[in-house]
Amino acid sequence: MADKARLAVFISGSGTNLQSIMDCCADGTIPGEVVLVVSNKPDVQGLVRAQKAGINAVVHRRKKFPDGKAADEHLLQLLTRHEIDIIALAGYLKLLPPQVVRKYRNRILNIHPALLPKYGGKGMYGHRVHEAVLASGDSESGVTIHLVDEIYDHGKIVAQEKVPILPGDTPDDLAARVLAVEHQLYPRVLKKLCEEIVKEKNL
Ligand code: GRF
Repeated sequence: MADKARLAVFISGSGTNLQSIMDCCADGTIPGEVVLVVSNKPDVQGLVRAQKAGINAVVHRRKKFPDGKAADEHLLQLLTRHEIDIIALAGYLKLLPPQVVRKYRNRILNIHPALLPKYGGKGMYGHRVHEAVLASGDSESGVTIHLVDEIYDHGKIVAQEKVPILPGDTPDDLAARVLAVEHQLYPRVLKKLCEEIVKEKNL
């Protein structure tokens, strides 16, 4: 009888969301286990976090393969070999290959540091998002978690939480306030999805 879902977390940077997910798996809040971390960049803090936790951490760079097809195939095999149930994108800056999206449809989540559908799409990441939000004069920003499809920041929204914008906020201030909410919201959503997967596995 399965009591945990198997998670792959994809990162490109510092991995603070990865850390909160790993912590919530470790303390039992999420009925899941992070069994694979994939980064498209070497030398990022998120990989160090994964290694410290004893999790298989892999750098996957398309340019290291003879062509895109070989790279995509390798990634798909990696996920299959690890018997992954759920993919959580946590600051991952690349688009997933279509065959990965197809195989794991409705089981891939992404977190975005704004209230989608505003301030999303290709090139809208990191500070650019917070700069655009502040420039717009909006009175609030927030966090969005959505299912992943073939288009950047596009799939069905599964959770959103608002974050206030305060007078005098810099992009750094807003980023920090949003990130603190991300660390709470992503584990809550993953907890629910993992519970569903565990139930399915035990049918
Ligand atoms: C987060 O703000 C997330 O919303 C965005 O990228 C950032 C990743 O931060 N997709 P971290 O690597 O989890 O610290």
